[in-house]
Amino acid sequence: MEYGRIFWFFAVLFIPFISIVTYLIWHEFDNKDHVLTLWKDSTNYCNPVEHIRLKDETYVDQLVQSGYELSKVIVILRHGDRGPLRQLKRLNSLYCDDQNVKDLLNRFRELFQHYQIGSSLPSEYFKLPDKKCRRKRLTRVGLSQQVKLGQMIGQLYWDKLGLYTENLNRFVNVTTTNYSRTFQSALAFLFGMLGSDIAAFNSTILKVIKDPYFCGIDGFQQYCMGSCTQISKITTQLDWRLLLTQQEQKEIQILIKKVGQIIATDLTQAEQFNSLMSIFDGVSAYQCHDEALPCDPVFGCVTLEQVRNVTELLCLQGTRLYQSSSYQQICWLKIYPFLHYLFLQSNVFNSETKFHIFAAHDITLESLKTVLRLDDCSIPPYSSRFIFEIYKKQMKNYIRLIYNGQDVTSFLTVKFKSILDFKLIPFEQFEFFLRQKFKSVTGYNDYRDACDHESKHRDLDNNDLDRL
Ligand SMILES: *[C@@H]1O[C@H](CO)[C@@H](O)[C@H](O)[C@H]1NC(C)=O
Ligand SMILES: *[C@@H]1O[C@H](CO)[C@@H](O)[C@H](O)[C@H]1NC(C)=O
Ligand SMILES: *[C@@H]1O[C@H](CO)[C@@H](O)[C@H](O)[C@H]1NC(C)=O
Ligand SMILES: *[C@@H]1O[C@H](CO)[C@@H](O)[C@H](O)[C@H]1NC(C)=O
Repeated sequence: MEYGRIFWFFAVLFIPFISIVTYLIWHEFDNKDHVLTLWKDSTNYCNPVEHIRLKDETYVDQLVQSGYELSKVIVILRHGDRGPLRQLKRLNSLYCDDQNVKDLLNRFRELFQHYQIGSSLPSEYFKLPDKKCRRKRLTRVGLSQQVKLGQMIGQLYWDKLGLYTENLNRFVNVTTTNYSRTFQSALAFLFGMLGSDIAAFNSTILKVIKDPYFCGIDGFQQYCMGSCTQISKITTQLDWRLLLTQQEQKEIQILIKKVGQIIATDLTQAEQFNSLMSIFDGVSAYQCHDEALPCDPVFGCVTLEQVRNVTELLCLQGTRLYQSSSYQQICWLKIYPFLHYLFLQSNVFNSETKFHIFAAHDITLESLKTVLRLDDCSIPPYSSRFIFEIYKKQMKNYIRLIYNGQDVTSFLTVKFKSILDFKLIPFEQFEFFLRQKFKSVTGYNDYRDACDHESKHRDLDNNDLDRL
């Protein structure tokens, strides 16, 4: 009798208990503590909204007070937080929501509708991000990041450039690559900068360029989207594996396989995770949204140690690439048309646009970083910013470069002008740097010659598709 009672007592308590525990184990209960200890690199890469703030940009005030007139600002952005590029385990239950953006959603809806009128872009470009993460799409977190960035940067530069609502359409120019995440990032940035004045902004000024390196923006159209044959030639010849020791290669392959088979939805999908970059992209979808790393009934859970190793090996691979002259050459060829365009735009006498915004990708910024010799061993975080400030004093132009809040002007090997604690690059020195470096890296003076004329069409190479 007593035993019967005790039995039922335990049964009633124990069965739900066991079910809950089993449920939690399969839902990564054991991985929860990992989520709370996001390690530094992941936070940097994810770039949470509360971390986004101005740093060395603010020195513009001191330069202006010293008689340097700010005449132009060029901002190159990476799009904000996005969903992963590949299908992932639990993707359908991952949330990429952001509370900051909740009150803004209705205004975004209006804004997107406004921009859709008369636009030939696909309708998905005008769909608001929802609470859940969607593959390749900007998330609400990304929206929020861009709004914040737009607010900060607008407040800093707007007055100094003499911009106001009525002259917007004349002096502000926005260019985005042809992806919904960059397009929406550009709009969110503008929204942060202009607030309700955004209605005054003429959508025809927002220009869409197909190439992720903005090739085609100036006079080099014929070399865009892979028509620069030298790029494909060198890319084929450059076997990144040769940059690593056998031991390192082996370590990488093992890691890719181990993590890939856990994060993929099933084994056939695991093949899609065939590079460190693809693994990093997958893992970031969990890390950037405070979600536990995934587990698999057969292969176990992704561990923080594995994630750390992925980042470290990516850094190693990146460093070796960065040191290789082939990689330098590829980057120069990819980014040169854009760099050339930026150079032309930097000349105050060339165009009256005062504020340029470019919405781009990590690969865009990475090529830019590589040619300017800025290796920080990390992939440009979401909502990264690369800023060119152009100053004028006594009919001479100067350039200051800032990457994610760090003044990187002095990283260039040029003759500087020193003022206060700052270095500025005289315009003609910047031109000299571009010409001389291009020549020494590619062996040619002219982009056309360096690209080679007998060109066949090349699609974006696979590495690029991993990265956008
Ligand atoms: C904006 O930039 C695009 C791309 O470079 C250019 O074609 C266009 O003329 C510029 N518009 C203005 C108003 O400066
Ligand atoms: C926007 O610009 C286009 C082309 O410059 C012009 O035809 C149109 O009237 C402008 N719209 C507004 C609302 O200013
Ligand atoms: C952008 O891509 C869409 C298809 O995704 C295409 O229909 C459109 O023509 C492209 N626009 C430009 C300017 O490249
Ligand atoms: C991470 O890298 C270290 C050092 O190379 C190695 O000892 C360790 O086994 C690796 N861990 C995993 C889980 O791959």
